Amino acid sequence: MQDKINAYLGEVEAFDATDEAAIEQFRIKFAGRKGLLNDLFEEFKTIPNDQKKIMGQELNKLKTAVQAKIESLSAGNDNHASSPLSGLDLTRPAGAGEVGTRHPLSQVRKEILDIFSRIGFTVEDGPEIEDDWHVFSGLNFPPEHPARDMQDTFFIEKNPDMVLRTHTSSVQVRAMENSQPPLRIVMPGRVFRNEAISSRAHCQFHQIEGLYIDEGVSFADMKQTLLYFAKEFFGKAKIRLRPSYFPFTEPSAEMDVYWGLNSEADYRITKGTGWLEILGCGMVDPNVLQASGIDPLKYSGFAFGMGIERITMLRYQIDDLRMYFENDVRFLKQFNRLV
Ligand code: DAH
Repeated sequence: MQDKINAYLGEVEAFDATDEAAIEQFRIKFAGRKGLLNDLFEEFKTIPNDQKKIMGQELNKLKTAVQAKIESLSAGNDNHASSPLSGLDLTRPAGAGEVGTRHPLSQVRKEILDIFSRIGFTVEDGPEIEDDWHVFSGLNFPPEHPARDMQDTFFIEKNPDMVLRTHTSSVQVRAMENSQPPLRIVMPGRVFRNEAISSRAHCQFHQIEGLYIDEGVSFADMKQTLLYFAKEFFGKAKIRLRPSYFPFTEPSAEMDVYWGLNSEADYRITKGTGWLEILGCGMVDPNVLQASGIDPLKYSGFAFGMGIERITMLRYQIDDLRMYFENDVRFLKQFNRLV
């Protein structure tokens, strides 16, 4: 065996070639699956144990020599088939990986929270699985109110008193129970409604709730706060408040912003009116204050609630809600602002 190894070593050392085919043949002869090295390794298994140490070393010497020869000959040959790495510059820095972008809903949520934090609002959150009290009763929903209906609300089967919250207004109840005014908070979160899925409705979406309670807070304070928001977020300076109804506010209103009618798209999204409905709001009903342990004779306040999906749709003229959760990068990449 030693003789063979010596002979092969000599052959390997003497071998020289530049053309690819010859180098490949050399490789097959020595290092191929049925090559001489493999034969020797087979033979190695049969030699007496006391020779194994020295023979093993000799064999490895040959193997290393074969590899070194192939590498040195191939190095002169770019794109050599036997060595896919030759011709590559392994010291070259890797290209930058693709950087993802924040989801448009996350961007808009942050933007809205930032706008309110600039005027002293802080952020709070509450549970998505809530009891009836915080979602309905504490907010002055009469027992027979349709919003409690099975069609709208997901009930927890094992405990019918527990529901998936249908709005973030539940968090205001918790906040009022936990602290005394002044309260100036915004409450973002996920909400759930048992609705058929379509391009405009889905069982789960996001809202931001706002609450401001102190002595002497008036409807005018609410209007000015919401006007500030409309200017900051939409860059629109004209709003209107239309009378509306919510069990937890009195009086209640819906706020529209004047979007304008400057383009065909404006006509489409405002249905030809120029106005867009943005949010619901109102003065917190004294019953709601009382129920949460706040003295309605001393304090007053306003609340508002808006849907993040809706506002984002208006902002970017997205016309199908499903875009938000399909995770198509062609869609998501269009929102590559780093906020
Ligand atoms: N909770 C209402 C909804 O989900 C939105 C809302 C309206 C919240 C008026 C408020 C409010 O705080 O004052 O449709």
